Amino acid sequence: MTNKKTLKLGAMIHGVGGGWGDWRHPDSLPNASTNFKFYKQQALKAEEGKFDFVFIADSVSINENSSPHYLNRFEPVTILSALAGVTDHVGLVATISTSYSEPYTVARQLASLDHISGGRAGWNVVTSWLSGSRDNYNNKNLPEHSERYKIAAEFLDVVKGLWDSWEDDAFVYDKESGIFFDKEKLHALNHKGDYFSVKGPLNIARSKQGQPAIFQAGKSESGRNFSAQNADAIFAGGGSKEELKEYALDIKHRARNFGRNPDEISVLPGILPIIGDTQEDADRKQQELASLITIEKALHALGRPFDDHDFSQYPLDEPFPDLGELGNNSHRGISGDIKRIAKENHLTLREVALRFATPKGEFVGTPEKVADLIQQWFEEGVVDGFIIQAATPNGLPEFVERVVPILQERGLFRKEYDHDTLRGNFGLKVPINRYSEKIYR
Ligand SMILES: Cc1cc2nc3c(=O)[nH]c(=O)nc-3n(C[C@H](O)[C@H](O)[C@H](O)COP(=O)(O)O)c2cc1C
Repeated sequence: MTNKKTLKLGAMIHGVGGGWGDWRHPDSLPNASTNFKFYKQQALKAEEGKFDFVFIADSVSINENSSPHYLNRFEPVTILSALAGVTDHVGLVATISTSYSEPYTVARQLASLDHISGGRAGWNVVTSWLSGSRDNYNNKNLPEHSERYKIAAEFLDVVKGLWDSWEDDAFVYDKESGIFFDKEKLHALNHKGDYFSVKGPLNIARSKQGQPAIFQAGKSESGRNFSAQNADAIFAGGGSKEELKEYALDIKHRARNFGRNPDEISVLPGILPIIGDTQEDADRKQQELASLITIEKALHALGRPFDDHDFSQYPLDEPFPDLGELGNNSHRGISGDIKRIAKENHLTLREVALRFATPKGEFVGTPEKVADLIQQWFEEGVVDGFIIQAATPNGLPEFVERVVPILQERGLFRKEYDHDTLRGNFGLKVPINRYSEKIYR
């Protein structure tokens, strides 16, 4: 059950939760974001549920208004390397920024994770959207939005080139003759481009899955093109079924224009399921979570996609302020949606802040209702799968124990892993090494 038509499921392990108030929930572990035991439990739970992957988000700048999870959390490759040692099948997807990293280092880190995990690494390629990152990286300004994607494209080319440094049978290990490797099968990249100069070769071979799988979440024009051209899986933000369908169709149309097979790209929206014994029970749980956020924290949350803009300067109960271009060079996707939704619905600042900080997802209800919605969205071809986000430590276990069995019974989701690599579970081929490919041709 691992062909393209198989539902994909990923779990975002997000420490103390994505919101500003989640840590105050009675079930919450306020130190979860740096608690290895918590990460291990969640990863094992995802594997018990036969998930395709777990995913660790990241950014490289904080301030005192950042959310609790941002303030104090693990670096993705480090925590995933530790999780690789306690899991066997689940994919391990790390976020790394192309605006504040070096390709040679990133290629090494991900190739190492890929070897440690036996071919389960994935890379969520992000371009960063917080200008404060410059203060931590030698005053290197956050590049302008579309340039960030040009840098990312060259960065990814270099990393993929480095990953092919060694052909698959390059290491001979012939003790008798003393030949360790075949020189013909080692290749320097010799890259000199607009942004990077990297000679190579990389000091680590390819793994069992050839190269780590590529994840991305482009929403803007340049982001969508980057995703459609390069990603194996695409994270989509929230949105209605219709909006997501439009997004997925657009991405797949673009992919086709780039000469790719759109069936090899999975569009995966993030959802926050809240499960109850009854609909009332689930609604109560959702309201309980919503009640933990104060208007002050909601304004901080709102400021985030606008590069930590200070919204406390505007009157709360007047129409949402006209922000002009603000947000376009930051999280263009969410900030643009917020401006549009506020305008279309004539909302006040207070209404926007509370609506944004306490999103009312559709996936709230009994396990059957949540499974029905997943089935509907998947079978109608809206999306290829979902990333499960959770506000409290019980969110993922509840989903695995109560929703996954329904999906399995309906034949929508695997009962056992057929593969032990991320590409294998995703139904993706092992990419042929570009140099072997040339010889082969
Ligand atoms: C599910 C999901 C997870 C994301 N994770 C991260 C992340 O960990 N770090 C980050 O900087 N951006 C993350 N993003 C933001 C995207 O990388 C991207 O900036 C955003 O979707 C806006 O698209 P744009 O760059 O085309 O404007 C995520 C987006 C989504 C939908």
